[in-house]
Amino acid sequence: MQSDLPEVRPSLPMEWVRSQFPALSASGVLLDNAGGSAPLDTVCERTAEYMRRWPVQLGASYRESALAGEKLAAARREVATLLDMSGDRRVAPDQIVIGASTSSLIGRLARSIAPTLREGDQIVVTDVDHEANITPWRRLEDRGVEVITWHLDMDSGRLETDDLRRILSERTRLVCFTHASNIMGEALPVREITDMVHDCGGRVCVDGVAYAPHRGLAVHDWDVDFYAFSLYKVYGPHCAVLFCKAAGMEALTNLNHQFMDGETGPGKLELGAFPYELLYSAAAVPAYLRQLSDRVNGRSGPGGPARAYDAMAAHELTLSSLLLSFLDSKSRVRVIGPSRPGPHRFPTVSFVVRGRRSSEIPPICDAHGIGIRWGHFYAPRLVERLGLTDVDGVVRVSMVHYNTEEEVDRLIRVLEPVL
Ligand SMILES: Cc1ncc(COP(=O)(O)O)c(C=O)c1O
Repeated sequence: MQSDLPEVRPSLPMEWVRSQFPALSASGVLLDNAGGSAPLDTVCERTAEYMRRWPVQLGASYRESALAGEKLAAARREVATLLDMSGDRRVAPDQIVIGASTSSLIGRLARSIAPTLREGDQIVVTDVDHEANITPWRRLEDRGVEVITWHLDMDSGRLETDDLRRILSERTRLVCFTHASNIMGEALPVREITDMVHDCGGRVCVDGVAYAPHRGLAVHDWDVDFYAFSLYKVYGPHCAVLFCKAAGMEALTNLNHQFMDGETGPGKLELGAFPYELLYSAAAVPAYLRQLSDRVNGRSGPGGPARAYDAMAAHELTLSSLLLSFLDSKSRVRVIGPSRPGPHRFPTVSFVVRGRRSSEIPPICDAHGIGIRWGHFYAPRLVERLGLTDVDGVVRVSMVHYNTEEEVDRLIRVLEPVL
């Protein structure tokens, strides 16, 4: 999101922030947030509230059913605000599809787009993405669609837009890429990429899962066609959201029951009943961001959550600086992704240690109540391209705004004698 950074960076009210997440009161340290963040207390409460009060099917004339429908419509409106928190332009509630996970939503999107593709059409995928945004598109090769890989540049350690430019053609229908790698933790210039793709007549499908926990989304500014993220990594419940630009939604084929072939909105992809209680509880996430913003700046108003994200960004920069400078001091450590902190570098820090398998490190932290992780994180193509498959992938420490400097210090004290 483009928000004007105030001259003095706002700071987070950490005591209040942590009090909003009951799971953080345990003695352990959660540094596996890119796997899944702690849910807000309000999310837990609203899940239970919905299940207790409206255990009914929607669409009937009796009072509870009608009320449940109203509650969910309000929740959908609220969740849609997450897609553009700049305050000026709202995302219409019928532009978001709710599903169990980003993997399932992108899978449905691909099945829904498939009938509109012809033999020889091209789809671009990366070798950096989580498989959620690769496998569904690669499967379309069976239909004669050509799938081309936009490769990681081994010199820069990034996906380079110049490489994409060379791949694009008048046959490109779709470019599928991640907004931020869940291993390398760096944001890509989405608007620049989207403009390039649109110029040649294609559309984009962006995986925002590793971006959304850290920065405000701005689908209008980015001009993206499809954008998906998982609420369970953004302090919410286990469900996910897919944004479809109006023209993109229109072009989708209905996957729902045949009698619903006239469907024009999210009903094309929301098959049968979906997790109502989770949509209801997800509405607590934008509410939290507004409250946080009020506390950061002492006032609210249009664009308020942008200030909460500014404070998060400043805090996350402190956390990643601490960890990265420690890792930099270790000659056997190689950081995967940018080794220096920066505004586009999130506190998702992956590394490998010369002479050790990545699988050896997290169990050492387990013994100290610190949760980190190793592996390919469902991005096995990236790990293979980096030549790290044989060392069990990478060690990943993933932090979010509720983590503290003290927690990072604890981790550093445990890792100090090991690395
Ligand atoms: C970058 C990225 N994309 C997609 C996914 C898949 O999300 P889901 O579990 O909601 O399918 C993940 C999950 O770890 C991820 O990190």
